[in-house]
Amino acid sequence: MYILAIDTSCDETSVAITKGRKVISHIEYSQVQTHKQWGGVVPSVAKRAHMERIKPTINLCIKRAQRQIRGFTEKSIDAVAVTVGPGLAIALEVGITAAKELATQLGVPLIPINHMEGHIYSCFAQNAKGNPSRDIALPLLTVLVSGGHTELVYIKESDKYQIIGKTRDDAAGEALDKGARLLGLGYPGGAALERLARDAKHTDMFQFPRPMMHSKDLDFSFSGLKTSFRYFLENRTEKENLHDIAELANSYQEAVFEVLVAKTEKAILQFPAKTVAIGGGVVANQRLKALMRTMLRNHNRVLFTPPYAYLNGDNAAMIGVAAHFAASKNRYVKNFDLLDRVPRLSLENALKLQ
Ligand code: KG4
Ligand code: ZN
Repeated sequence: MYILAIDTSCDETSVAITKGRKVISHIEYSQVQTHKQWGGVVPSVAKRAHMERIKPTINLCIKRAQRQIRGFTEKSIDAVAVTVGPGLAIALEVGITAAKELATQLGVPLIPINHMEGHIYSCFAQNAKGNPSRDIALPLLTVLVSGGHTELVYIKESDKYQIIGKTRDDAAGEALDKGARLLGLGYPGGAALERLARDAKHTDMFQFPRPMMHSKDLDFSFSGLKTSFRYFLENRTEKENLHDIAELANSYQEAVFEVLVAKTEKAILQFPAKTVAIGGGVVANQRLKALMRTMLRNHNRVLFTPPYAYLNGDNAAMIGVAAHFAASKNRYVKNFDLLDRVPRLSLENALKLQ
């Protein structure tokens, strides 16, 4: 079954064609350069850019699939999948409208997907040849670390998501972005912070606070860390801060990651999952992956991260893979008119689509 998947939840216009877990073709247009000058994503600008690009991206993705699969045409597409939330309302809307139009034109069903479900399945996407061939063993613990979300999700049965921990304020990616901005690294700053942190001579020289590290629950809070980082910087001279910039980046990043790793460790001791999968933009970070890998190895758990770099950030390939599993549960939309964006969609809320 070929699925054409669309994601316009934030600042990437992305389309993919997938078959099962295999990604046949995939395209994404990043708007990062456009939003950079504003220091964050501007919804109206994102909407306009999605509108300009969505149709050409769909057409190009179909063309690329034709190069991969002999005889492939748009008639080969069996279903259209689209992200319906969470995300920016007016950005999501562009993808949903395009998906409805295409599904109507092709006479195929629609599959609505939760963007975070996509990040979970990003760990199980395969290339066109079917590699890597990882098994999805349930129960599975997933750690979702993106710009908008930080969640620990326990999956005992397929299609049933239990959020066992989440952030009470900023997401991990947001905390990294805010820290990076305080260091003058621009937006989004997670990757720049990582590069700078690598140049540090020490690990965790400044030992910033670890909010909620020892709380009994599995929740997170990162806004206090950002505030104490800001006060710390303000109490020193600009020259001192510049001199120590790599150490500052390193210590700040360590504070965020140590809490993520500690809460993941707490979660595996409470929930019987042998496998842990991590998804979301922050998983691009090598230091986070190394810390998680070491901790999980000590507990004899298997760690999966997205197998190809393009699967770390937002992309439609992961939406297509998630849709393959949703289709096996018959999660199709019967009446297209009922399908609407759900900007605050949670993994625990099934969509009402009948
Ligand atoms: O999943 P994603 O692409 O978009 C959302 O759904 O939010 O995640 C974006 C987040 C941003 O906060 C960005 O700074 C962070 O992922 N990020 C990183 C790295 N690359 C992207 N954080 C740490 N290290 C990186 N290398
Ligand atoms: Zn995302």
